[in-house]
Amino acid sequence: MATIVLSLGGSVLFPSIESHNLKRYAPSLTGIAQKHRLFVVVGGGGEARKYITVARDCGADDATADEIGIRVTRLNAALLITALGKEAWPGVPADQTAALEAACSGKIVVMGGVTPGQTTDAVAAVLAERVRADLLINLTSVDGIYSADPRKTPGAQRFGRLEPGELVRLISQSQLAAGANLVMDLVSVRVVERSGIPLVVMDGRDPESLVRLLSGEDVPATLVSRSGTTPFPLR
Ligand code: UTP
Repeated sequence: MATIVLSLGGSVLFPSIESHNLKRYAPSLTGIAQKHRLFVVVGGGGEARKYITVARDCGADDATADEIGIRVTRLNAALLITALGKEAWPGVPADQTAALEAACSGKIVVMGGVTPGQTTDAVAAVLAERVRADLLINLTSVDGIYSADPRKTPGAQRFGRLEPGELVRLISQSQLAAGANLVMDLVSVRVVERSGIPLVVMDGRDPESLVRLLSGEDVPATLVSRSGTTPFPLR
């Protein structure tokens, strides 16, 4: 039984509250949890962005806007818990220690944001360290990490494999570009580098792709791991 942490992007699970993917995701996650110890960190998605925009409009500073974003991620987590029913721990842990405690139940643990100044990807990377995960998976709306933004640069190449240090360099360089829309933030990739926990970045819009990846099938993705190491096959 492997321990897996999923960073489930809000843009994947909740493009908007009306067009959520809860009912598509719940059966896949339940199936995965029959074989593995599963933690899910849910992002804010379109609704978080709307709330943050309104907060800023009302004069909120960044930390206050972040606190509002965190509340939306936790509300999204509560909705996923509801969709998972008895397979999930019923509460939304406020931090990684509380998530570890909840995991003693043997149920799927679902959480959202923790503290201002970061994203749920960083929450997931720290959680992966705390639970000594075998694998961290970032489910996002692109099928991996590219040499440049594939939506803006037609010739951009997807990396099949990257060293953690290469990922840190790539994200540090892109962060300097104004308006950069990054797959992951610098905090999360630094934690991935120091922990050495393998990371897969993949398109999560179809939950079946995740199921296929974990069954050992080849799906388009980027694997970030120290040279010579691979988490697959998962045991
Ligand atoms: P997300 O991590 O979901 O950010 O948290 P995102 O960039 O919108 O990602 P997607 O689109 O969901 O994948 C939403 C917001 O909540 C705040 C931040 O403001 C973030 O942009 N947040 C989240 C925090 O401040 N701290 C956290 O630990 C998590």
